[in-house]
Amino acid sequence: MSRPRGVSRRAFLAAAAGAGGLLPAGLAGAGGGEVKVPSRGVVAAVSSGNGLRATARAVELVRQGADTLDAAVAGVNIVEEDPEDASVGYGGLPNEEGVVELDACVMHGPTWSCGAVAALQKIKTPSSVARLVMTRTDHVLLVGEGALRFALAHGFEPVNLLTEKARKEWLRWKESRSPIDDWIEPREAEAKMRSRPTGTITCLVLDAKGDLSGVTSTSGLAFKLPGRVGDSPIIGAGLYVDNDAGAAGATGRGEAVITAGGSRIVVENMRRGMSAAEAVRDVLERIARQTLDPRLRDKEGRPSFDVSLYALKRNGEVASGSLWSGKRFAAHDGETNALRDCFHLFARSGKEGG
Ligand code: GLY
Repeated sequence: MSRPRGVSRRAFLAAAAGAGGLLPAGLAGAGGGEVKVPSRGVVAAVSSGNGLRATARAVELVRQGADTLDAAVAGVNIVEEDPEDASVGYGGLPNEEGVVELDACVMHGPTWSCGAVAALQKIKTPSSVARLVMTRTDHVLLVGEGALRFALAHGFEPVNLLTEKARKEWLRWKESRSPIDDWIEPREAEAKMRSRPTGTITCLVLDAKGDLSGVTSTSGLAFKLPGRVGDSPIIGAGLYVDNDAGAAGATGRGEAVITAGGSRIVVENMRRGMSAAEAVRDVLERIARQTLDPRLRDKEGRPSFDVSLYALKRNGEVASGSLWSGKRFAAHDGETNALRDCFHLFARSGKEGG
């Protein structure tokens, strides 16, 4: 396996050994990436750094006998309904026109079924709507007005998803974009926004029978073009579940994850025998190698954006890695629910390494 340009030998070897993103205890699976049915009692949940409450809830529900997808959706609903999370559901940052558009998908391992919604307005919990697309339609993906009508038909309550906090952020961005348009910042304007946030939640759940499910939900790239859809509602990009192999999810720049077929490749890597950490690292390396557009590269040729990938192998191995350092993920190993550091390819300091 080759070391990508810009990745220090130390970081590469650390990632290869699974350092950082691989849970040291409780969830450690058999070596060599062999897929095995978990020993009795293995319950696990993995999520992005904003998903600690999601993993707690999901494991609690699975222990009470809930299906893994019901548990994952219930966990993600907590964050979707939280106005303080600016990357998901209610309180998510809006598009360029100040309208919140949400994307989500779900995948249920035991039945190999999935559902998704994209550019959905006015509904706080797009993951619940995606679950209904899976169970109550003959389709996989509903978008925009059609997705909203479907949600309303199922009794979801339409609300204004734009919180005051998110509206002020949007206005700050709009007023600071260009000195030659007609939007003017207040005299005492705060520092300009230096980057546009992408935030998302993904949650992967494994029960003691070895059944897997996953959910990904987002408000997408802040201030996006209306109608822009990222990886989160795309099965195989923002989420993929293979009940025989494992589950994977993604957060970060959706365009890069779609181009790489991110979650699908992570799962396929595990199916072919890689450990969860190797599977994640391989896809991060592909993304780094395949980022050729100078707009998206820093002076040293590295991606100027971030992507994080999360993997839960059917044997209980867990891993998460990011292109850039500083990211965390939530993992519940059936005993402990905690945030842990993702491994990374590139260090934020500008120096390579990990
Ligand atoms: N990963 C979220 C998005 O790009 O929309």
